[in-house]
Amino acid sequence: MSTLAIDIGGTKIAAAVCDANDAIVQRWRVPTPMDADAINNHIAEIYQEAAKAHPGIEAIGISAAGNVSADRKTLTFSANIPAWINYNLSEHIGELIGNAVPVIVENDANCAGWGEFVHGAGQGTSNMVALTVGTGLGGAIVINGELYRGSFGMAAELGHLPMVPDGDTCGCGLRGCAERYTSGSALEHFAKSAVRRRPQDAARLLELCDGDVNKLEGPMVSQAAQEGDVLGLYAFGKIGEWLGRTMAATAAVLDPDVFVIGGGVVAVGDILLEPARYNYARFLEGSAYRGHAKIVAATAGQDAGLIGAANLALR
Ligand code: BGC
Ligand code: NA
Ligand code: ZN
Repeated sequence: MSTLAIDIGGTKIAAAVCDANDAIVQRWRVPTPMDADAINNHIAEIYQEAAKAHPGIEAIGISAAGNVSADRKTLTFSANIPAWINYNLSEHIGELIGNAVPVIVENDANCAGWGEFVHGAGQGTSNMVALTVGTGLGGAIVINGELYRGSFGMAAELGHLPMVPDGDTCGCGLRGCAERYTSGSALEHFAKSAVRRRPQDAARLLELCDGDVNKLEGPMVSQAAQEGDVLGLYAFGKIGEWLGRTMAATAAVLDPDVFVIGGGVVAVGDILLEPARYNYARFLEGSAYRGHAKIVAATAGQDAGLIGAANLALR
């Protein structure tokens, strides 16, 4: 018994055959085309190869950024791939593989969060919220050990919590969403504007981007912050503060025992998590008179989405 897990990211499609314990036994990786048909063809080809090498594949689990319908077949909206509006990804891939196995689609952050719950930092908890701090801000909610998907499949879009009235315009079309203030993109934005405002403090960041602030990227900010650079630390302080505010708003609704923070930027550890914890406590209702959720870094790493998709596909 095994599954084929597929993680369709902004830059690459990662795939893995996972055994009955969600352990990865074989991997694939191809660049993500912008065209929906080309994506489907890649997935079908990987499935054919995988099915030959591993005869027991029972399902395909797909992790994709965007809103997924309650029946886990259709991407109702995605800011990434223009064709993914009311797009039945499950059916399209099913046709290409002669409906050999069921194809289950789930939101990328739900997959990664579920991966953390079953095999990572969320293990042993019962009410978990996971936040994936990447290009966008993704969310996953586990209540009493079950992934909470809401009535229409759209629950846990925590990146689109409205945090700032009439704030920055978001890819979703609304303004002031949490992911405009806490995400990898927000990190870049805070760092760039700090460099422009305070060039006298920006020597290290400017060195890392070859003197062109427009070329400043998240990993450079992480590197500078880890070296103790003041503007790098400032940018992490800002996204950490907004992460704390976002978690406090979430706790007002869900009161979880743990927040698991994933995504590339969490590699800096406490540089992000300390301001997040501080501001969580600061903006939490009744803060001094209640239990506080733990705020911890994800541990399943880059494979969390694949592992979660594999596990969900067999449920
Ligand atoms: C999307 C979510 C996705 C998250 C992480 C957000 O912008 O709206 O559906 O889970 O980014 O990729
Ligand atoms: Na989600
Ligand atoms: Zn939004």
